[in-house]
Amino acid sequence: MKIKILAALLGSAALSPAVAQAAELNLICSADVVICEKLVGAFEAGHSDINVNMVRLSSGETYAKLRAEARNPQTDLWWGGTGDPHLQAAADELTAEYKSPSLPQLQDWAVKQAEVSGYRTVGVYTGALGWGYNTDIFAKKGLKEPACWADLLDPGLKGEIQIADPNSSGTAYTALATLVQIMGEDKAFDYLKALNKNVSQYTKSGSAPVKAAARGETGLGIVFMHDAVSQTVEGFPIKTIAPCEGTGFEVGSMSLVEGAQNPDEAKAFYEWVLTPEAQNLMPEAGSFQIPSNKAATTAKEVPDLSKIKLIDYDFAKFGSADERKRLLTRWDSEIGGRAGQ
Ligand code: F6P
Repeated sequence: MKIKILAALLGSAALSPAVAQAAELNLICSADVVICEKLVGAFEAGHSDINVNMVRLSSGETYAKLRAEARNPQTDLWWGGTGDPHLQAAADELTAEYKSPSLPQLQDWAVKQAEVSGYRTVGVYTGALGWGYNTDIFAKKGLKEPACWADLLDPGLKGEIQIADPNSSGTAYTALATLVQIMGEDKAFDYLKALNKNVSQYTKSGSAPVKAAARGETGLGIVFMHDAVSQTVEGFPIKTIAPCEGTGFEVGSMSLVEGAQNPDEAKAFYEWVLTPEAQNLMPEAGSFQIPSNKAATTAKEVPDLSKIKLIDYDFAKFGSADERKRLLTRWDSEIGGRAGQ
């Protein structure tokens, strides 16, 4: 591991633990902040020579940041967040090609993500989209359980739904791309316009809507199912639903930044975080995605994808720079900034 010596100019006589400064790793984490902090703590405990500077940003926000700092990268590694913006970053060559020696230990969907990107990203977890609703609020208001996407248009749900903004949030972009794949693009936008009448707020982060539902601030949050499960495990009255018409899913990903200032440290974290030991920390932090290492344990709370009607999500298309940009521009002009109208 690289050690930066603060007093290097003073010569080797000055080399002592007191003057040896830990190497740095600048990490953006796009999953839940609790698992982000847990991973950083566990990594630093085993790599005392590396100091990790971590910031939690949503997937779309991270893509925008990597783009903005492309000429002078301040970020070394991006862990977590939905796969589509990782694929867009790969297409833009904002992220570096790297064929991990750990690839043979990963699930097929995680390897496929690497292949699709020309080895500029890799799958770290997966999970399906759905929603969580507050059973107390629904019971109090006499609302029936929404089992299908169509049920979310019930006028009784006016002001009761939150979903994130797909520009900042990978979760909400997954929802947008999912609806387009299920309904066709024009019908999906008609649906989103109708849904908008029931939406009280478009949040920045993808899991915020179900956290708000858990606190009783809204009735329902459209989120990844594992984020709804986290709230139930925390003890909140949240029930998780997989939409009856079918639903999309994410391949949460990880990418090394092209031109990173600390590539060795980034690779050390990259390889460590793909191990079963690191991935087994996820349920301990209340993160219930399916891990990508075949030898990692899938916790019993993790939604069983074999029981969910999953669409054949076209990652190559919906992770492509042109498609993502086009759909977001249409969302901005037809839906954005008009919650409740
Ligand atoms: O909270 C965890 C999680 O849902 C991940 O599974 C996902 O990759 C990420 O958050 C997406 O966050 P956002 O929608 O804020 O980009």
